Amino acid sequence: MTKHPAAEHSAAEHSAAEHSAAEHSAAEHPAAEHPGAEHPAAEPPAAEQSGLVIAVDGPAGSGKSTAARGVARALRLRYLDTGSTYRALTWWLLSRGQDISDPGVVAASAGRPVIEVGTDPDAPEIRVDGRDVAGPIRSREVSNAVSAVAAIPEVRRHLIAMQRAIIAEALAAGAGIVAEGRDIGTVVAPDAPVKVFLTASEAVRARRRTADLAADPDVTVAVTRAEQAQRDRSDAAQMARAADAVEIDTTALDLADVIGEIVALADRRKAGAWTT
Ligand code: DC
Repeated sequence: MTKHPAAEHSAAEHSAAEHSAAEHSAAEHPAAEHPGAEHPAAEPPAAEQSGLVIAVDGPAGSGKSTAARGVARALRLRYLDTGSTYRALTWWLLSRGQDISDPGVVAASAGRPVIEVGTDPDAPEIRVDGRDVAGPIRSREVSNAVSAVAAIPEVRRHLIAMQRAIIAEALAAGAGIVAEGRDIGTVVAPDAPVKVFLTASEAVRARRRTADLAADPDVTVAVTRAEQAQRDRSDAAQMARAADAVEIDTTALDLADVIGEIVALADRRKAGAWTT
């Protein structure tokens, strides 16, 4: 795990398989288990990717996590799941029985847990106060509570600083990074030379999420769709499509096609030494 130097944060760890399931089901996208495997030719030496930041934004179920991880593998970049940092803080608050409907309580807690996020696309990790929370942060309870936590300005200030530091650390190490979330192209890394915004129809997003949560007997497509609509409303303030982002509608695309489009976009930008 890449230890974040500003480790006054806490977090959990999640395996590639768990993460894949959380964002984008393998059933919907058969290549999801081995993102990047379809692009063996797109494996340049890491040094070639030095300085490259790829911002991947989009709503839940748009496929951004699996696609972002696949791109990172294909281009040998690091990978940052910013949503996991909001989830980690939310898990910490819930596990302590904190009242997350009280903005004052949430704001005061923003910097208390020590969150550590890994940047290996093959095994992204997330820890809170040293505990692996990769599984718990994907629970429905956390999913349905995280938007309220992510809306608190103190939380965003704290976690965005952490996310920027992780990106800066990658660049300082001569690496590149794919960062995914809601506001990467607009707020976290507005200078990223490659920006994509993934979308998908509401129905397909709900189907993907339902497949991800197949182990939960209470979850039907209708339930997922209702929860998704609620989350979309709550997340709307945080989500912004950068004016210079390329929109990719993943509704009818294979995961391999989505990864291929983003890799091709990065290749096109490369001629300009990663400048826009
Ligand atoms: O991508 P995700 O579902 O794991 O994100 C979890 C929550 O965090 C979601 O409600 C939106 C929020 N989020 C955010 O506000 N900004 C980001 N960059 C990433 C996620």
